[in-house]
Amino acid sequence: MRNRGVLVTTWLLLSTAGQAMADDAPLSHDASQPIEGEQIYQQHCASCHGIDGEGMPNWQRPNAMGELPAPPHGPEGHTWKHSDAMLYRMVSEGWRDPWNETERLTMPAFEDVLTPAEIRSVINYLKTLWELSSSLVYGGKSRG
Ligand code: HEC
Repeated sequence: MRNRGVLVTTWLLLSTAGQAMADDAPLSHDASQPIEGEQIYQQHCASCHGIDGEGMPNWQRPNAMGELPAPPHGPEGHTWKHSDAMLYRMVSEGWRDPWNETERLTMPAFEDVLTPAEIRSVINYLKTLWELSSSLVYGGKSRG
């Protein structure tokens, strides 16, 4: 009986330690990604989309050239409406609104500038822009 108690205690200790390690690994990984993503964003995206992702002024209306300006990435924009796959495509291959009066890609392609991992990382950062603001708007409730 006594030996069994020791065994159970040891098992409990080991499994709690294992659990703590398993919890730690993905957390620290996720936390490092938006930091790297933020650096990529500030370097390659902020000039058009704004330092805080606020977009260009009058982003909802075509400019003098008949092109839509860079939109914000917060909840007021529409970045959050796109699937991860679509966001990846837009950043990698570039994008233009089909109604633009010019043919050029107003959103430049980044496939020759950023690695696939960097593109994923900057998209993860974009998510923090609308999730942070929406948690303020909705009183801290996560939309999961
Ligand atoms: C030269 C200016 C410019 C730069 C630099 C730029 N963008 Fe854009 N981006 C735009 C414009 C303009 C649009 C709007 C295109 C349209 O819909 O006509 C856009 C659209 C987007 C969209 C789609 C948003 C939506 O709601 O449809 C995403 C996502 C995006 N950009 C991400 C990025 C990321 C990430 C970077 C940096 C790696 C970046 N952009 C750099 C100009 C830029």
